[in-house]
Amino acid sequence: MQSKAALLLALLGGYFLAERALSPVKTITRKAQDITADAGKEKLTPSPVDMRMLVNEVVEELRILAEEKNQTLSTSIEKKVEAKVDLETIRLAVSNILHNAILYTQEEGKVEVHTAKTEDGEAIIDIIDNGPGIPEAERSKVFERFYRVDKARSRAEGGAGLGLAIARWAVEVNGGAIAFRDNNEPGTHCRIILPEVRAAKQGISS
Ligand SMILES: Nc1ncnc2c1ncn2[C@@H]1O[C@H](COP(=O)(O)OP(=O)(O)OP(=O)(O)O)[C@@H](O)[C@H]1O
Ligand SMILES: [Mg+2]
Repeated sequence: MQSKAALLLALLGGYFLAERALSPVKTITRKAQDITADAGKEKLTPSPVDMRMLVNEVVEELRILAEEKNQTLSTSIEKKVEAKVDLETIRLAVSNILHNAILYTQEEGKVEVHTAKTEDGEAIIDIIDNGPGIPEAERSKVFERFYRVDKARSRAEGGAGLGLAIARWAVEVNGGAIAFRDNNEPGTHCRIILPEVRAAKQGISS
């Protein structure tokens, strides 16, 4: 399957980019999280990115996987939501999260992607599914490399436990934030927040 192979290549590319900057000397003096957030920053080319274009591209690329499971994959996308980010790394993050949503949600399940703006003008991307969810106690741990909630299930589905670590690196290196939210409904709700075009100019170039 070509899209899966491309995704894996992209996953590994992002992983090695992040991993290369994790030098053992630095890990002694700095928190691993800080290093991850800085890794590969100099290779980014931030520019204003239309969230509608980005989300539609990723959704259409992965739609075949949802169709194979008879899932409903829908979007609700606001006009004119932009962020100043590096397109390729953010595409990788959204792709990893959406891929998880489809993979871990049952057949006939529902996966939604929404975009919106915060009051401060930051871009929001919400990826919501009605699958098994991630227990609250594990919601921050799953961002660690190789961490999987249900190891037997994940291995059966071919997961390496890297997708979320890469997604977090990709979002944070662009000055954004990523977290799982509790929306009091069964399933998983992942929110990515990306800096607005004007604010990001200072954030990324400094
Ligand atoms: N939408 C989701 N619903 C339920 N569980 C999830 C979801 N997203 C992630 N998880 C859990 O978080 C774990 C870590 O996800 P991550 O994407 O980092 O690794 P993976 O999917 O196992 O492997 P990889 O992405 O490297 O192929 C998963 O193994 C799964 O247990
Ligand atoms: Mg994954």
